[in-house]
Amino acid sequence: MAKLTVEDLPLEGKKVLMRVDFNVPITDDGKVGDDNRIVAALPTIKYVIEHNGKAILFSHLGRIKKEEDKPSKSLKPVAERLSNLLNKPVIFVPVTEGKQLEDAINNMKDGEVLLVQNTRYEDVKNGEYVKRESGNDPELGKYWASLGDVYVNDAFGTAHRKHASNVGIATNMPGKAAAGFLMEKEIKFLGDAVDNPQRPFVAILGGAKVSDKIGVIDHLLDKADKIIIGGGMAYTFYAAKGIKTGDSLVEKDKIDVAKQILDKAGDKLVLPIDNVVADKFDNDANTKVVEGDIDDGWMALDIGPKTIAEFEDVLKDAKTVVWNGPMGVFEKPNFAKGTLAIGKFLGTLDNATTIVGGGDSTAAVKQLGVADQLTHISTGGGASLTYLEGKVLPGIAAISEK
Ligand code: 3PG
Repeated sequence: MAKLTVEDLPLEGKKVLMRVDFNVPITDDGKVGDDNRIVAALPTIKYVIEHNGKAILFSHLGRIKKEEDKPSKSLKPVAERLSNLLNKPVIFVPVTEGKQLEDAINNMKDGEVLLVQNTRYEDVKNGEYVKRESGNDPELGKYWASLGDVYVNDAFGTAHRKHASNVGIATNMPGKAAAGFLMEKEIKFLGDAVDNPQRPFVAILGGAKVSDKIGVIDHLLDKADKIIIGGGMAYTFYAAKGIKTGDSLVEKDKIDVAKQILDKAGDKLVLPIDNVVADKFDNDANTKVVEGDIDDGWMALDIGPKTIAEFEDVLKDAKTVVWNGPMGVFEKPNFAKGTLAIGKFLGTLDNATTIVGGGDSTAAVKQLGVADQLTHISTGGGASLTYLEGKVLPGIAAISEK
């Protein structure tokens, strides 16, 4: 990668502005529900403080469209969890601009860590939805950049956004905006998988809607040896092939696109052979396994046993696997089997690079306890999809070249 990295920056005694993605679930009682993204940013934060830099962290949390959204989206619980993980105090500043923030930064000692309040607090000012952060307001990026000496972007999960705290700060610090270790790692694994894969390269794409994945399928058709399709999106392909879909999810306006993809793909695209169908969208519905046509009154909610075997057969010799999206209605236990089987099988592929991106497939591999057996679990959902579509991610583009 020809981008500047944190190892290229002077850190000793410097105010190091860092964009991290601490957009993590917060429980009803105000605690961090899943600290994966915080843990993933630790190597870069530790590197900065071990080199006597002052780590000044910026992140968003959720989306803020009105004043009332703010209290539940405070980063305070994140500061507490980070402090526990680092085993040292984290200075939390409950504002995003002004004297309180500037004084706190100016009072920092080398090796200390400070977390600024949720950057999206800037999206609502005096009750108005002004999107200063998420609209990349030029003054805001300039102001935040003025608070530090150098900038490190470790927020891969946010890299598909063009916001003041990633693109804005970076463009105001030319030659001093570097990638952190997590950013580097994500780009390395996803980049190598797509552009320089060990073959056979198999992509597994799932999830409800084909419309969300058309760009990815299109891009990967030129790169992958096989593309396995599961989840709700498979049935729009069924419709395109003239297979009866019953009451399954079908995006009627995408049937033509699905036809074009099928024509282009030839035998590269692997669709389910059989499905678990249900008489209603309910965990306790009546179910049966059917091959091919699905009758009216029944909807496909998971892949069937023959499909699992077929997918495993395609995967068994793979050297590179990228997985995004569940194979069925994973959140309902009776329709999670297909997703769990695929996750488990990936864990057995000792000679393959296995990469998982996206919330539900990540949840599946964690639930199975196979996350440790996979090569890389991406911290980016939307960002990894955008990457797999072959698109430029603004957050990465704004990082300085070496
Ligand atoms: C994510 O969770 O995908 C990122 O943190 C981006 O969040 P956003 O979709 O609210 O911009």
